[in-house]
Amino acid sequence: MAPKIASSIDTSSEIYKKRYAYNKGRVEEISKIRAEIAEGGSQRAREIHKKRGKLLVRERIEFVLDEGSPFLEIAPFAAYDIYDNKAPCAGIVAGIGKISGHLVMIVANDATVKGGTYLPLTIKKHIRAQRIAMENRLPCLYIVDSGGVFLPLQEDVFPDKEHFGNIFYNQAQLSKEGLLQVAVVAGFSTAGGAYVPAMCDQTVIVKGTGAIFIGGPPLVKAATGEDVSVEELGGANVHTKISGVADYLASDDEDALIKAREIFSTLPKDKPFELDRDTPSEPDYDADEIYGILPTDLKKPFDSREIIARIVDSSEFDEFKPEYGRTLISGFARIGGYLVGIIANNGVIFPDSADKGAHFIELCSYRKIPILFLQNITGFMIGKAYEHAGIARAGAKMINAVATSSVPKFTVIIGNSYGAGNYAMCGRGYNPRFLWMWPNAKIAVMGGEQAADTLAQVKVNQLKRAGKELNTEEINALKQPILDDYERQSSPLYSSARLWDDGIIDPAKTREYLMLAIEIVSHNIDKSKQRYAIFRM
Ligand code: COA
Repeated sequence: MAPKIASSIDTSSEIYKKRYAYNKGRVEEISKIRAEIAEGGSQRAREIHKKRGKLLVRERIEFVLDEGSPFLEIAPFAAYDIYDNKAPCAGIVAGIGKISGHLVMIVANDATVKGGTYLPLTIKKHIRAQRIAMENRLPCLYIVDSGGVFLPLQEDVFPDKEHFGNIFYNQAQLSKEGLLQVAVVAGFSTAGGAYVPAMCDQTVIVKGTGAIFIGGPPLVKAATGEDVSVEELGGANVHTKISGVADYLASDDEDALIKAREIFSTLPKDKPFELDRDTPSEPDYDADEIYGILPTDLKKPFDSREIIARIVDSSEFDEFKPEYGRTLISGFARIGGYLVGIIANNGVIFPDSADKGAHFIELCSYRKIPILFLQNITGFMIGKAYEHAGIARAGAKMINAVATSSVPKFTVIIGNSYGAGNYAMCGRGYNPRFLWMWPNAKIAVMGGEQAADTLAQVKVNQLKRAGKELNTEEINALKQPILDDYERQSSPLYSSARLWDDGIIDPAKTREYLMLAIEIVSHNIDKSKQRYAIFRM
């Protein structure tokens, strides 16, 4: 049994109550936005959709999932406040849930949002979902109801590497890996979009509403002069009886989703990697108390051990090198019974803390223990003494270890995420299997004040060379727009809307997310020998 973390939080103090009210308020604000986004397109669009006899996108997902299955939604804030805020969820719902006992990545178009067409962020989200499927060896279900590419933005969706074509490339790669690809065509599947069902291993199409064609009736008319109806051109009867593009004919959405469930029921069960697991136990402290621990202003530090105590089983934490490199906490704990390594910040990273981080990552990687990163980092320590001590060398070692460690990693940004600290603590560029933010988090290359000071200083020097001096008022006028931009761009909603993360989560539910995530990643653990790049010593 590992030692327990003894909390020193006074839940009756004024500061605790103030923080609790503030952070709970932020969580409620985010939940409200999430619920509004989840409604999908306009009420009118939803009514038209229902009148056509179709289920709404979330009804389809609910219907296809096993009873009581969780649904780990990916990027529920995608495109928030972008595209005139008219593309909730970027017009596509994606997430992991159980179908016929299998964990499946579901990617479903929302036809009530711009006809289910693919905007740049729709594509980014679809590809992110496929990447998660590939990394965790998950089969996929595509519920198709889409007008294909969003034509006005074709230059941002069509030609580049991670644009529309990459979706079909990924389908081929996933299928090649033996990961079942299933499509339910419950609406249009137009132009390039026709390849989603056509590239699947097995495809179901709904009679009356489902249609697949490379060129729709208006395009056919324009190109060849041929007059043809949707049904005649690419309806369900055509594709199940004449072309063979689809395999199963369904009478309506429900029937199609039942058929999808039947397809998954014939898929042999994958045996997950056996991660070290004990009997799970709840933390000794209430997860809710996290609201009272997080400060209202992230400039104020907080002890990450207090957070760990509210996430891990029995609040037990076997800390590694507790007296060394103290601004980085590392150690072993269990979450839902699973053994994990945890790395959390408790201040800026110094050379000793970076060395300790790299050492701990090596321990976990050789033992095949997944690593959880809890980011609250303003960066690496700067200044002459630290440059001379080789902070860049120590930092590179930790970044190297994170980049090459082959165990699954999870990152939760629980506070600040700035500069190279983001890299060393497994930011998005380091491929954690999942990355979430808390509503209080902030992410940017540096703090707004530092960026404004730096840019103002550069300008002041430039003008000085030209013989012009700026007064304080002019310098402040230079800084203000930079401060405003940084404030806006470092918010979690800004990040989540652009898929820099997989979603903003309620701090009190972090443990639940992690338990599900560990179950998911256990489907793909790299069993080969761990290798590293060259560490600069
Ligand atoms: N690009 C951009 N916007 C599109 C679009 C496309 N390919 N297809 C549809 N839209 C937009 C419409 O302008 C409309 O926008 P609005 O909500 O701002 O008014 C919205 O999507 C809904 O379109 P609408 O035709 O009213 O809905 P519908 O449910 O009756 O039909 C489609 C949806 C997708 C079947 C139909 O619009 C269609 O066939 N579109 C063309 C598809 C196509 O040829 N795509 C080729 C791309 S590779």
